[in-house]
Amino acid sequence: MGSPSSGPAHLSNGGVSLLLTPDRWGLPALVHWGAALADDDVPGLLATDVAAVLNSSLDAPRSFPVVADRHHGWSGTPAVQWEVGGATGGPLHHIGTTTDATTARFELADGELALVTVDYRLDSAGVLHARASIENRSTDGELAVGALRLLLPLPARAREILDFTGKWTGERRPQRRLVGDGTWSRASRRGRPGHDSAFLVLAGTPGFAFRTGEIWACHLAWSGNQEQFVERLPEGAGVHSAVIGAGELLDLVEVRLAPGERYDSPEVLFAWSDQGIDGVTDRFHRSVRSRPEHPSPPRPLVLNTWEAVYFDHDLDRLTELAKRAADVGVERFVLDDGWFRGRRGDTAGLGDWFVDETVWPGGLRELSDRVHELGMQFGLWFEPEMVNPNSDLARAHPQWLLGELPDLGWRHQFALDLSQPEVVAYLLDRIDRIVTDCRVDFIKWDHNRDLHASLHSRTGASGVHEHTLALYRLLDELAARHPALEVESCASGGARADLGILAHTQRVWASDTNDPVERHMIQRWTATLLPPELVGSHVGPAEAHTTHRTAVLPFRLVTALFGHAGIEWDLLSCDPHELEALARWARLYRELRPLLHGGRTVRADDVDEGALLHGVVDPDRKHAVYAWVRTDTSATAHTPRVALPGLDPRRRYRVRIRPETGPASRHQVADPAWLTEAEQGVVLSGRVLTRDGVPLPLLNPGQAMLLELTAADD
Ligand code: DGJ
Repeated sequence: MGSPSSGPAHLSNGGVSLLLTPDRWGLPALVHWGAALADDDVPGLLATDVAAVLNSSLDAPRSFPVVADRHHGWSGTPAVQWEVGGATGGPLHHIGTTTDATTARFELADGELALVTVDYRLDSAGVLHARASIENRSTDGELAVGALRLLLPLPARAREILDFTGKWTGERRPQRRLVGDGTWSRASRRGRPGHDSAFLVLAGTPGFAFRTGEIWACHLAWSGNQEQFVERLPEGAGVHSAVIGAGELLDLVEVRLAPGERYDSPEVLFAWSDQGIDGVTDRFHRSVRSRPEHPSPPRPLVLNTWEAVYFDHDLDRLTELAKRAADVGVERFVLDDGWFRGRRGDTAGLGDWFVDETVWPGGLRELSDRVHELGMQFGLWFEPEMVNPNSDLARAHPQWLLGELPDLGWRHQFALDLSQPEVVAYLLDRIDRIVTDCRVDFIKWDHNRDLHASLHSRTGASGVHEHTLALYRLLDELAARHPALEVESCASGGARADLGILAHTQRVWASDTNDPVERHMIQRWTATLLPPELVGSHVGPAEAHTTHRTAVLPFRLVTALFGHAGIEWDLLSCDPHELEALARWARLYRELRPLLHGGRTVRADDVDEGALLHGVVDPDRKHAVYAWVRTDTSATAHTPRVALPGLDPRRRYRVRIRPETGPASRHQVADPAWLTEAEQGVVLSGRVLTRDGVPLPLLNPGQAMLLELTAADD
């Protein structure tokens, strides 16, 4: 952290600037968040930062301090809400700023009662990491925290909002609207972000798209209750038009601080770009990849047994499945739900984390050993936070449940109260032993219900806040005991896919659907925040179990390639052609994964609604791979030139169709002539490819092909 300051704070990194200056109360107020400022921009912005005095308004100009609330005339959603001794917190006064080129810490206090700290760090990818905390400085009273939100200003040209909603098997569906007066607030009170999580809120210039537009984006790195919003008041926010922000959503009495105690907000990540959604994505991916906890490459090819056998566990059959998996090139074999006591379906057993001796008379170690002998890692499913009433655990410890009403079962299960140390100790002990005894390399950590319990003094149940922190601690303790263990965050698919959980896990399961049409859309938008190596993506059978839509193998293979790839298919039902295709694809995944998991994600805008063009370009722009996908029929009879985004205009590239994923059927008589040559490899300039584009074939719906580009001028 830098040196004390009483003047403006200017943070600059990765092509982004954040500028703050003391307002008339001496509070740090936001002047600029966006494009990097030149030194001589700063005086001009500071000189013009005082707003007009408005009609029917405050008698002095408004500002937008980091802790905007009513005490200083802010009538929008407050940054800070707290109370002590039955009275709401008073006005905060600035007591200190410490800043350097990329960080700033602001300390604000209400007399001797509370200390609020706001921290900003601008990383080298230009992503701003913002956090706040509040500490009870009183000597006797309890301080109740209502909210601690991180808010940043938006200019008037940020006129459109894009965020997400969704459902089981349909996560991260985009929705757009215009910014208007009022609050566009997305809240989750589900105890997890939810299938309909806002995920990432982007506000941008009208019509912003993947490759164009200026965007201000916000993500909350938190896996419990939360809110994210864009808000505009007629009087603006100082000289700014609107506000974007996020925070944890706390229940009324959820966080009560004794004297000396502190509440830390989750981190809020803010990214600005003038290069469209891909520009925001690029910043987030670079930022996420620079975390010390980012999982190391290569990401092993997975086979997960869920859709192959469901609850029907049998050592011989699973051993055969493991052999087939090893034959096609799988590197991690994951045994899903159904291995523990009483778990013959989804109505019983959760909580009883002991290997079921009736199904596994020799224990799980036999299978694990065979999997390891075949050269694969062994993964195992758990759902530690949950319990079926029909379980020995629930019968023995009814007081361990989180406190949902008895008729609020969900998949016949309830949540455990992780704020009780005995509950965590039990889970830690059981998971730890099984990981050790069964040589588990990977856990698929599921979470299949919303949490409806709230803090309840009668039952003693804790709230979601404590539950979420206890979950993070539990994951950290397991990691400390088993440093090589990897964990996937799954929640009925992708209902808990956020950078909070990903600070403690190495992968998210984006969705329970392996239908490539659905998956393509889910991955496309999940990738806006999360780099593909963190997002599980599996090839399923021809008929998707979730939608019963049928898709050809090449389309399924191309789809699963653009993530942390895997297989969710009963390989014992595959014919030799399918197995050979999977083996070819597995080799291709291994060949391409340094590019896929280290390059820049790019997406083209100007294709018709039934088509998608997306790809990954390596940081040197020497190597790229693109998927040309048709999810639906087109309204037009041809495909005009399609730009392959992200290439170096000064380079020349050899373009070829990768045949390993299999042929894509066409809705035309013959391909554009250049593409016929591309089967051997044709050389084209980066400028033509990226600026002008190339005509691509009109594929039939449900088809996909892969183009690979390699720099030809070195
Ligand atoms: C829900 C998950 O999303 C599935 O992948 C599978 O693990 C089941 N739970 C198992 O019960």
